[in-house]
Amino acid sequence: MLKVWYFSLILIFVFSGCNSSNKDKKSVVNLDGKKLLQEKCSSCHNLDMPPKIDDKTDLAPPMMAVSFHLIDFIHGATKDDKILKAIDFIKEYVINPQRSKSYCDKQSLKQYGLMPSLKGKVTQDELEAIAKYIFEHYTVENLSKAQQALNRLNAMPKGERIATQKNCFSCHRVDKKIVGPSFKDISKRYHNNINAIKNSIKHGAKNRWDGIKSTMPPFKNLDDNSIDQISKWIISL
Ligand code: HEC
Ligand code: HEC
Repeated sequence: MLKVWYFSLILIFVFSGCNSSNKDKKSVVNLDGKKLLQEKCSSCHNLDMPPKIDDKTDLAPPMMAVSFHLIDFIHGATKDDKILKAIDFIKEYVINPQRSKSYCDKQSLKQYGLMPSLKGKVTQDELEAIAKYIFEHYTVENLSKAQQALNRLNAMPKGERIATQKNCFSCHRVDKKIVGPSFKDISKRYHNNINAIKNSIKHGAKNRWDGIKSTMPPFKNLDDNSIDQISKWIISL
């Protein structure tokens, strides 16, 4: 019994941080760093990767740049060590930003001004989840993957690009039937009737294809120009 007590004491000790209660600490595991980053940081930092940069309107450096240069400038024996230190840096800096602490170069500091403190707007646990997500997500490997996906997208005809972005390919392929008919079969059937294609994209369709039981959902919010581009692309197949 005594042993059990002793063990629980150790557990309590291990799981309670300096200024966060036992309960808070537990919840850190469940905090969604990606969502919190969006909520708490995206009003100033661009979160895209690769980032869209607009010197005239940007209020802060893009988060990808923040991640890359903290990893560049913070010293550590190993990469993991650097990341731990960088997480600690973010937890501290966001609450208590100072010119002398910023790793931002002078030019950028002048351009953006000092980051306002987010004291009271974000907890240490939330910051830890955010910082962990930052260093997992904004990596050179992920940037190169994102860049490749973007290159593939840019190389596509416009209609195919929009269809990709609107997830049409979750149910369609160009060459074969999956949930819905192949785009080539759709093209064959409607090549003289582009309006039928446009209508089905806008309003959905069902029971028009033998052997297909699922329905085509309506894309009511897709603008006419996008529908036009996709339909022309389907016909061109
Ligand atoms: C109100 C605007 C604003 C918000 C919101 C904001 N930041 Fe910043 N942040 C800035 C500006 C401006 C800078 C650049 C100047 C500087 O380094 O202080 C900056 C810089 C930083 C730096 C870089 C410090 C360095 O040395 O390079 C980090 C880290 C950072 N922000 C993290 C965050 C995180 C994490 C959040 C969300 C929890 C956040 N920021 C929310 C404006 C903001
Ligand atoms: C959730 C699955 C799903 C998604 C997502 C989907 N479709 Fe379909 N689509 C279908 C199914 C199933 C059919 C066959 C419906 C039928 O039998 O009438 C179909 C049929 C079609 C047809 C032919 C309709 C007709 O009148 O014969 C067109 C055109 C089409 N889809 C285009 C698209 C485009 C463009 C997108 C993306 C904007 C898209 N679909 C997204 C499932 C889907």
